[in-house]
Amino acid sequence: MQPLLEVSYLSTKFSTPDGQVNAVNDVSFQLFPGESLGIVGESGSGKTQVFMSIMGLLAENGKTSGSVRFKGQELLLMSRERLNEVRGSDMSLIFQDPMTSLNPFLKVSKQLTEVLIEHTGISMQEARAVCIEMLSKVGIPEPIKRFDMYPHEFSGGMRQRVMIAMALLCQPDLLIADEPTTALDVTIQAQILKLMNDLKREMNTAIVMITHDLGVVAGLCDRVLVMYGGRIVESGTVREIFYNPKHPYTMGLLASMPRLDGSGHTSLQAIPGQPPNLQNLPKGCSFHPRCPYAQDRCKLDHPPLRKVGDNRLSACLLESFS
Ligand SMILES: Nc1ncnc2c1ncn2[C@@H]1O[C@H](COP(=O)(O)OP(=O)(O)OP(=O)(O)O)[C@@H](O)[C@H]1O
Ligand SMILES: [Mg+2]
Repeated sequence: MQPLLEVSYLSTKFSTPDGQVNAVNDVSFQLFPGESLGIVGESGSGKTQVFMSIMGLLAENGKTSGSVRFKGQELLLMSRERLNEVRGSDMSLIFQDPMTSLNPFLKVSKQLTEVLIEHTGISMQEARAVCIEMLSKVGIPEPIKRFDMYPHEFSGGMRQRVMIAMALLCQPDLLIADEPTTALDVTIQAQILKLMNDLKREMNTAIVMITHDLGVVAGLCDRVLVMYGGRIVESGTVREIFYNPKHPYTMGLLASMPRLDGSGHTSLQAIPGQPPNLQNLPKGCSFHPRCPYAQDRCKLDHPPLRKVGDNRLSACLLESFS
């Protein structure tokens, strides 16, 4: 099967008055149609910037190199106009805070129909019907009545559903969700995740889920990429990563995850020490200053991602973790 998305040696650097920030470093991975991929790692590990780079949404001071092929086409060389077409029709993005993506001054009906008409050219009447159906699909009660309301008339969870509806209107092959449920309470989170699971099944949409919440990954994803210091340090199926982590950083993440203690909520906690300085990454393995197993050579040699099983990669020099 052809990958839907094939990222090779993607690097993103930001120039700042204090020097260069190496936010994404030689990231390579593939995503297949209908697959769902979780991206985990501490704050600042480069999760968001990988996908900003892929979608051509980098800040002005950022520069990307490498290759991103989406349905066989190189995105990094694409014109702005063509990229705009791809975004929104074949590939959609959902952010954490729906208010940053919804215009507070426009009715939901206007915002949704505009997206659809722009990308498909159908009539207003047809567009209204499709949008109302989509609102109903994402679980908005009384969609006909709510269609002509403003974003602030919806609750946080409902706004997030509107965002998801908007992202799905053009039936994208790829949906990228960046912490889409972090701002929501746990019950609403569970509903949104169920919704995404249903969509994955019904529409065969490939999903990238960027999250701090390992529970979300367990509930939705097929595969996981673990990021540290702008690099992928481990990848594998959810089951393998959770039950048999190979990289000491992944082990740390899992060990610091609170057990199911009744709250049923599992999120990433801090591992002792500080995340690396992206302006001046440590020599050798970036994780060595915090790694309980680090040896002398970890301070000198850069660990490449190595195969540690079928479709499993880990970037650790130590034989005991291969
Ligand atoms: N425009 C910019 N200029 C300079 N540095 C930037 C810029 N945008 C992002 N960065 C830096 O890139 C690094 C990676 O950021 P990114 O947002 O990808 O992290 P993240 O893993 O998504 O974190 P979080 O979990 O907090 O969302 C951070 O150190 C961030 O400060
Ligand atoms: Mg982020």
